[in-house]
Amino acid sequence: MNEMYDMSIVTHNLGVMGILAVILVNLVMLFGAREIRSYAKRVRIFMPMSATMIAVILFTGVVMMAAKHLDFSIENIIMILFGVALIFLELTRYKKLKHLDISKEDALTTYKALGLKILYVEFFVTLAISAWMLL
Ligand code: HEM
Repeated sequence: MNEMYDMSIVTHNLGVMGILAVILVNLVMLFGAREIRSYAKRVRIFMPMSATMIAVILFTGVVMMAAKHLDFSIENIIMILFGVALIFLELTRYKKLKHLDISKEDALTTYKALGLKILYVEFFVTLAISAWMLL
């Protein structure tokens, strides 16, 4: 069991660093976006990356919880709640882009307002949880 826990905590940390990197790339992509169609194409290509990183964090978290016989700490409960929230935030961001009326002049500006807000929340909460867990 300890090996499983030790291996998962290393992979969990890599997943957390991966999700921070993916959020940063998404922020840079959105800041640099000039045309909604080409931006949407890039997001469609990149979206599986964030899905994969979230899956890595959730899977390794579940393995660790099993290894420690479901002995939930406050930190674990907050991580789980945020892990689930991260999925909904990404779904909201993706659905907003998917249903955006791109024929409208201000489509990109409208999307940027919500997209940036979601990415900031994802970035700072992930950073806060990591700092809390590692410091
Ligand atoms: C995006 C969400 C998450 C972030 C940012 C995060 C971050 C972290 C960090 C930084 C650590 C410390 C690693 C170390 O000590 O080296 C950690 C440990 C841990 N995380 Fe997460 N985590 C997240 C989601 C989850 C989820 C969803 C679960 C459970 C299903 C989970 C379960 C754990 C467990 C069990 C530990 C080991 C500490 C302990 O034994 O309580 N985490 N996490």
